[in-house]
Amino acid sequence: MSVERSRTRKTNRSRKVLLIDDDASLRRVTEYSLHSAGFNVLSAADGKQGLASFRMDCPEVVITDIQMPGMSGYEVLRQIKNERPETLVIVITAHSSVEKAVEAMKQGAHDYLSKPFSRDELLIVVEKAFALLGLQQENRRLRDELEHQVDFSHMVGISDVMQDVFDVVRRVAPTEASVLITGESGTGKELIARAIHQGGARSKEPFVAINCAAIPATLLESELFGHVRGAFTGAVRDRAGKFEQADGGTLFLDEIGEMPLELQPKVLRVLQEMEVEPLGGLSRSVNVRIVAATNQDIEFALEEGRFREDLYYRLNVIPIELPPLRKRAEDVPLLVRHFLERFRTAAPIEISAAALEGLASYSWPGNVRELQNAVQRMVVLYHGEKLDLQHLPKKIISGPSSSRGQIVKLPADGYSLETIEKEVVVQALEHNDWNQTRAAAFLQVPRHTLIYRMEKYDIKKP
Ligand SMILES: Nc1ncnc2c1ncn2[C@@H]1O[C@H](COP(=O)(O)OP(=O)(O)OP(=O)(O)O)[C@@H](O)[C@H]1O
Ligand SMILES: [Mg+2]
Repeated sequence: MSVERSRTRKTNRSRKVLLIDDDASLRRVTEYSLHSAGFNVLSAADGKQGLASFRMDCPEVVITDIQMPGMSGYEVLRQIKNERPETLVIVITAHSSVEKAVEAMKQGAHDYLSKPFSRDELLIVVEKAFALLGLQQENRRLRDELEHQVDFSHMVGISDVMQDVFDVVRRVAPTEASVLITGESGTGKELIARAIHQGGARSKEPFVAINCAAIPATLLESELFGHVRGAFTGAVRDRAGKFEQADGGTLFLDEIGEMPLELQPKVLRVLQEMEVEPLGGLSRSVNVRIVAATNQDIEFALEEGRFREDLYYRLNVIPIELPPLRKRAEDVPLLVRHFLERFRTAAPIEISAAALEGLASYSWPGNVRELQNAVQRMVVLYHGEKLDLQHLPKKIISGPSSSRGQIVKLPADGYSLETIEKEVVVQALEHNDWNQTRAAAFLQVPRHTLIYRMEKYDIKKP
């Protein structure tokens, strides 16, 4: 229902025309004609005033006289095209000065009117401009839609687990249910979130993503709920939050596990009441579908009291768990071919069976993203060659998963298990640039297990 609401709101948006002319009587007549034809008319008596109004009111169409004292119409045209090239500018030229009109068109004017012009002539030109804008908008929408479709078909996976995931996506996309996607970094959580949005009734409305881990806790609140001018130092104008930006569409709350505890009740309230209260402002209603994602063990965060249960249950109506790539090695060859195809600039790239096998037996701690980067790198470095074992990144050939048999060499006179464990944890962290999430994935343990070991052995980043 509210999808409808916000769509009407967009099409009913008043069609704004800015009229700049120093001739007061002509301005009044033109203003009246446009106004009576249903346009929202703003007017200015010279170029300077005109530009100020242009910047503040953002009209879609500007009509400007060419010959004006002070700033000329050409200068106005130049500035406008510079600042917002999508604006359509119609110039008014004196009777019989076709050269001036031609010159203005060369400089980017959309159309011209030569004085004197009738009401009909005026309206035809302005209506034509808005018709073009409408077409351009429709084109953009269609292109977006097309991109969405391409996106959805661009998710590959033949493993049973991924086929199950795709099934769930197909079934939940057309509903309004909240979805919580879990999975290690790089497993495709965002891609799934987008697929859910695109496969549903809200696909023509915005998909807005916010990464709760990337924004400092102090800013997150205003980022989510918005603020009004003056709500805090630096709030120089009203700003809609992500909830409002996503109105009618889908809000993707990424890394939800990092949402500060004190913000959680507020988010819960919005989800329950579908109303947001911008900082310093009055509450307004929103209609968003929520898809959330986390690469953390959120149940552990629940136990530890870092995540509220009520919010968790609200978000986790439909859980989707994305398995790490090492648990679906059968997807690797397909993904490799998919990325080879995506990154190639010339003829199709061949790859040997041995190389594919090498890639499939690697553990991929960074999951699909890491695989994608590895393939892109090979395409760049060795284009024109048939890819084989020697082209694979070194870590893959000598990685832990391909060194079958002895992974750890023990000294002849033995060693304490704790020392070995500590050493392994340090090495995993070093190998992953001290990124705990990746190091945990590397050791195939939940992140909290790694953190527990780091505390136990007092391991700190140097
Ligand atoms: N099944 C898939 N098919 C094709 N490409 C994929 C697939 N899964 C992931 N990718 C690609 O891998 C990259 C990482 O995916 P995405 O950003 O969705 O992961 P993520 O789980 O959100 O990662 P992070 O937790 O780091 O944010 C993207 O470039 C995406 O296009
Ligand atoms: Mg992501």
